Amino acid sequence: MLSDRDFFVLPPHEGMVDYVAVFGNANPVYIEIGSGKGEFISQYPTLYPDANFLGFEVREKRIRNILKKLDPSRNPNVRLMVELVDEGIRERLPAESVEGVFIQHPDPWPKRRHHRRRLIQPVFLEALAYILKKGGFVQISTDHAEYATWIEREFAQCPLFKPVFSETIQNSPHLENHVVTWFEEEQRRQGYEPQFMFYHKV
Ligand SMILES: C[S@@+](CC[C@H](N)C(=O)[O-])C[C@H]1O[C@@H](n2cnc3c(N)ncnc32)[C@H](O)[C@@H]1O
Repeated sequence: MLSDRDFFVLPPHEGMVDYVAVFGNANPVYIEIGSGKGEFISQYPTLYPDANFLGFEVREKRIRNILKKLDPSRNPNVRLMVELVDEGIRERLPAESVEGVFIQHPDPWPKRRHHRRRLIQPVFLEALAYILKKGGFVQISTDHAEYATWIEREFAQCPLFKPVFSETIQNSPHLENHVVTWFEEEQRRQGYEPQFMFYHKV
């Protein structure tokens, strides 16, 4: 039923993504990690037709949800990768090839014994810095106050990134055209405010 949209999903393969082969052009590339139900990846790229967007999502069911929101004529600059992002991202995307990284509401893994499953870890930040262009950005939002503090600390210990604001944790997004995701909306309804962090690769 969705076969006219199958091309959005990159077939599983090993090795580096070839952007020109995938998008048919050499426009700047942005990535989203954890695309969830697809609000960001279906809406934001429509505002930036001269850029390409790769959305990573590990759960197949979520990918099916995202595909329902994508439209071949409105979203020619979007592709999805069904995979778990970790420090192995440096074997998938070329060095210094990414302009910006969006991470909205990464799983907070609140239990202490699960903290090692958190996405934001020293080796992962090194890998992000590796794929980002100099001056490239990472924008993260979370409504989990303790994870926000964790993220702030991990970045502070990584000399490859600099926060854009001296007050690292902000209560509004730095970039224009913020897309409110399903998760953000749900959490707001329950009284949790998102917090935003914005970093540049040095
Ligand atoms: C809490 S949800 C947030 C989804 C969406 N960003 C939003 O704000 O509504 C986290 C999403 O990230 C996906 N995810 C978690 N860790 C991931 C990883 N390492 N790589 C790719 N996707 C991941 C999960 O499957 C889930 O869809």
